[in-house]
Amino acid sequence: MSRPRIFVTRILPEKGMQRLQPLSEEYELEIWPDPLPPPPEALQTRAAGAQGLLCMLTDRIDAALMDGMGPSCKVISQMAVGFDNIDIAAASRRRIPVGNTPGVLTDTTADFAWALLMAAARRVVESDKFTRAGLWKSWGPVDFLGPDITGATLGIVGFGRIGQGVARRARGFDMRLLYHDVQRQEEAERNCPAEYVDLPTLLRESDFVSLHTALTPETYHLMNRERLGQMKPGAILINTARGPVVDPAALYQALKEGPLAYAALDVTEPEPIPPGDPLLTLDNIIVAPHIASASIQTRNKMAAMAVANLEAGLRGRRLPNCVNPHVYP
Ligand code: DGY
Repeated sequence: MSRPRIFVTRILPEKGMQRLQPLSEEYELEIWPDPLPPPPEALQTRAAGAQGLLCMLTDRIDAALMDGMGPSCKVISQMAVGFDNIDIAAASRRRIPVGNTPGVLTDTTADFAWALLMAAARRVVESDKFTRAGLWKSWGPVDFLGPDITGATLGIVGFGRIGQGVARRARGFDMRLLYHDVQRQEEAERNCPAEYVDLPTLLRESDFVSLHTALTPETYHLMNRERLGQMKPGAILINTARGPVVDPAALYQALKEGPLAYAALDVTEPEPIPPGDPLLTLDNIIVAPHIASASIQTRNKMAAMAVANLEAGLRGRRLPNCVNPHVYP
C-alpha cells in the first residue's frame, strides 16, 4: 500500500530539514528542489492527494488547490507569520487547520525595519553606490545629507508584536513615539510607551513612518495618494509589512514630487518588483527582496515551527500555532 504524501514547496533551512527527516519513514516526502517556487500548475499537481502541505508565502493556496488536495488533506503549514496568500475561509470550510510561525521573527523583523530606517535616513545604499562608481573625490560639507534620527518622531502603523518591537528599539534614540492601530492597545502601551493617535495625525507629525499591519481588504493600499500626501514634508516611509499596503504608483509620485524624502521597502507590489518598475529609477528608495526575517537563527526557528505544525496536523493533533482554530470542535 502506498504511503500517505507530504509536499514541501521549498528546501527548508537546516533545522527544518532535520525535523522533516523522521517523517520520511512513514510518509512519502516530496520537497520541491528548485530555489524558485513551484509554478502554480506544478504546485497543483504535486499537492494533489497529499495529506500535508508545507508552503511558503510565495505559494497561492486557494480553494482550487484545496479541492485538488482532496479530502485526504489534514494540514496546511506555512513557514511565515503572514498568511494572506492562503484562502483561510476556504480552508476552514474544508476543516483544514492552517499553521503559521508567529513570535519567532518579531525581533529579527524589527531589527530589519531599523536597518532600513537608518540606511534610508543616512543614505547608506546610495552613498555605497557612489563610492563603487568611483565618484568619491573628496569629503563634502553638503554631500549625502539626511535627517537626524535621534530626537525625531517615529510613527508606527500597526502596533502588534513587530510594531512594538520597532518602538522598543526607538528608546535608544530618544524618539517621540506615535502609533495607530484599529484600536488603542493599552496593554502594549504599558510595556512600550507610545502615544495613540489617529492616522492623519500620525502621518502629519512623524518624521519616520514604519508600517506593520497585516494585509487585509481594509489595509490594501492603506498608503494611497491621499495618505501619502498627508505625510510630513521630508518624511521617510518604511515598509516591512506587505507590499500592497502601499499603492506603488502613489508612492512613486510622493517620492518624485514630495512630500516624501525617502522610502525603504522590504516588500513590494508585485513581488518580486520587475526590474523596469518606475520605483527602481529613483535614487531616494531602497528596495530589499523581502528579507526582514532572514537571520540564520530565525529562519531555522520558523522552519522548525512549520514542521511542528505539519506533524501535529498529520497526527490529528491540534497545531501548536493555528490561524483558524475554529476548525477544531
Ligand atoms: C512573514 O513571516 O510573514 C514574513 O513576511 C516572512 O519574512
